[in-house]
Amino acid sequence: MSIRKPIIAANWKMNKTPQEGYQFARQLTAKALNLPGVQFILFPSATGLDHVHEVLKDTAIGLGGQNLHSAEEGAYTGETSAGMLKACGCQWVIIGHSERRHIFHESDDELRAKVATALNAGLKVVLCIGELLEEREAGSTREVLERQLRADLDGMDALPVDRIVIAYEPVWAIGTGVVATPEQAGEAHAQVRAILEGLFPTLNASELRVLYGGSVKSSNAASLIGIPGIDGFLIGGASLDIDEYVKIAELSQLEA
Ligand code: 13P
Repeated sequence: MSIRKPIIAANWKMNKTPQEGYQFARQLTAKALNLPGVQFILFPSATGLDHVHEVLKDTAIGLGGQNLHSAEEGAYTGETSAGMLKACGCQWVIIGHSERRHIFHESDDELRAKVATALNAGLKVVLCIGELLEEREAGSTREVLERQLRADLDGMDALPVDRIVIAYEPVWAIGTGVVATPEQAGEAHAQVRAILEGLFPTLNASELRVLYGGSVKSSNAASLIGIPGIDGFLIGGASLDIDEYVKIAELSQLEA
């Protein structure tokens, strides 16, 4: 069990209307009072942020956007700026989710600009990285993680560990029901810390939080959270159901 307070983050992707998000947040605020040992963060779609913020604004539950544009404002149809996320009450934003990288072809150059924009705007970042199945099978997982981290964080003198969280999300485990084994996830998380220590000599990697994402459910959460170096979860499908989401949080609580 990690010494860092686990983050139990819900990435709803393109699910839930604003009203459904509102109802979920209401249920969560009641249940979260009994779970002070975890940090909850909800990532609704952009249209749901305002409604969910209405519920969360006086609570310790975090709120974030699933994406942002690197420009401050302008002619970017369909996009959302950092300022807009903040105005909707967000403290967080996800950058580099594998669906953004692979479906929407976001490049590391774009992601680097997004990370800089988010941090400059005062948002905290969940930066997602992870390898494809063929990359794992070719034995190049570490190389892929290093390439992504190096490119997405290039130009930064130091890593602000209180404002950046890394989410290791192997692409083959996302939405597939195939979860990484605790050994695979533990190894990748250790690699992430080692890579970042190499890139940022002043980094105290024990302060950095690294989340696991990919087919997390209440049936596998306990074995994953028990691995040193796994500091919580970025949950897709299982985070849509309040009981399942809360159950994962219960299993992840720091022991008193
Ligand atoms: P699933 O939990 O649905 O596999 O999705 C994981 C994910 O992509 C979270 O960002």
